[in-house]
Amino acid sequence: MKNFVFYNPTRIIFGKGTIAKIDQQISPTARVLMCYGGGSIKGNTVYDQVITALKDRKVHEFGGIETNPDYDTLMEAIVLGRDKRVDFILAVGGGSVIDGAKLVAAGIPYEGDNLWDIVTGEARVRVGEALPLGTVLTLPATSSEMNNISVISRRATKEKFGWMSDAVYPAFSVLDPTVTYSLPEEQVRNGIVDTYIHVMEQYATVPVNALLQERQAEAILLTLQDISQKVLEMPPDYGARANLMWTASNGLNNFISCGVPGDWATHGIGHELTALYGLAHAESLAVVLPHLLWHQREKKAEKLAQYAQRVWGLTGGGDELIREALDRMCDFFRLVKMPTRLTDFQIDPQEAANQVRQRFDARGSLLGEHGDITPDQVAEILLMSQ
Ligand code: NZQ
Ligand code: ZN
Repeated sequence: MKNFVFYNPTRIIFGKGTIAKIDQQISPTARVLMCYGGGSIKGNTVYDQVITALKDRKVHEFGGIETNPDYDTLMEAIVLGRDKRVDFILAVGGGSVIDGAKLVAAGIPYEGDNLWDIVTGEARVRVGEALPLGTVLTLPATSSEMNNISVISRRATKEKFGWMSDAVYPAFSVLDPTVTYSLPEEQVRNGIVDTYIHVMEQYATVPVNALLQERQAEAILLTLQDISQKVLEMPPDYGARANLMWTASNGLNNFISCGVPGDWATHGIGHELTALYGLAHAESLAVVLPHLLWHQREKKAEKLAQYAQRVWGLTGGGDELIREALDRMCDFFRLVKMPTRLTDFQIDPQEAANQVRQRFDARGSLLGEHGDITPDQVAEILLMSQ
C-alpha cells in the first residue's frame, strides 16, 4: 500500500425528513448564499423545506446553475456573494450545483486576478481560504457532497476541468433519499453508472496489497448491481433509494482511494466528450471505460481477473476471462439503459478520436495509473467505441 493522508471532515445527516436539521448546522447570524440549479427543487418541496429550515437568517438566492456548471454563471454568483457580503454557502442540488458552489465558496474571498486559475490548478486554495459550505444533495451520483473535488465547464471555450482543495469539503451534507423520488429515470441511471465508474477507476489498476480497499470497492460494485433494478422502479422504493444514495457517496469520498493508484483516464476523456458533444457526464464515461479497459488489459490483467472472479463469479483466465467480465459490465450498463458506444449517440468515433487527440496533444497530457496512455492511444480507444 502506498503512503497516504486521509482526511474527510464532512458531517453526513442521512434519512427521511432531515432537511430541517440544517438549522442546527449553520450559525443563526450567518448571511447565506443559497445556490441551486434549474428549478427542480421548486417542484418537489425541497426549496420550501430549505427555506423553512433556514428560519429568519439572511438568505440570498442564486438559481440557474446549469448541469456541467458554467464558469461565467458562477462568476455572477461570486459577484452577488461579494456584494451581499455572504459568509456561508448552501448548495441545494446535484453534483453540478455542489461543484459550482465550491468554486463560489473559494471565489468570493479570492484575491487573485483571474478566478479561472483556481479551476486550472494554477492558483491553489489552501484550507481556511474558502467560505464554509453545506449541501442538500438531490441527486446521488458524484459524491461531491462528501469530497474536495469540483468540476467546472467553460462553454465559451468548450473546456471542462476538475480542481481539488481540502478547503471546499462540505462542512455538512444532508442526504434525504425521498428527495430523489422526483428524479427522471435517466438521472437515476446516470447516478448508478457514474458511481460504478468512479469505483472502477480506483480499482482496475495494479494490485498494491490494499486488501480492505479492494473489498470495499468490490462491495460498492456488487451493491450497485444488486439494487440497480429496484432503484429504477416507480413508484420509488425508499430502501433502494437510500442504498443508492449512501453507495454513491462512498464511491468517491476518499475511502477506497487510500493508498491505491487511480486511473482517471476515463474521466479525463469523458470530460472532453462532454465539452465537445454535450454528452451527460455518465454517458461520456460509459462510452469510454469498457474500451479503455480492454485496450489496457495487459497492464491491468491482475485486477481485471480479480474483478471477473469476485464481482461476476467467473472462472478461467487470460484474455477470455477479461473479455467475459467486460461483456458482463456492458450488459449491466445496458440493463440500466446506458449505451456503451459513441455511435449510440450518433457521434463519429473517428471525428471524436481526432478532436480529443488534438486537445491532449496540445496539453501534453499522459493518462492512466502509469501516466503512459498517450494521445494516440486515447484516439485508438475512442475508435473502439463503435
Ligand atoms: O438543475 P435542476 O433543475 O436542479 O435539475 C437537475 C439537472 O437537470 C436534475 N435534478 C437534480 N436533482 C433532482 C433533479 N431533477 C428532479 N429531482 C431531483 N431530485 O438533474 C439534472 C442533472 O443534475 P447534475 O447536478 O448536473 O447531475 P450530477 O449530479 O450527475 O452532476 C454532474 C456534474 O458533476 C461532475 C460532472 O462532471 C458534472 O459536471 N462531477 C463531479 C465530481 C465531483 N465533484 O467529485 C466527480 C464526478 O466524476 C463528476 O465529474
Ligand atoms: Zn464521475
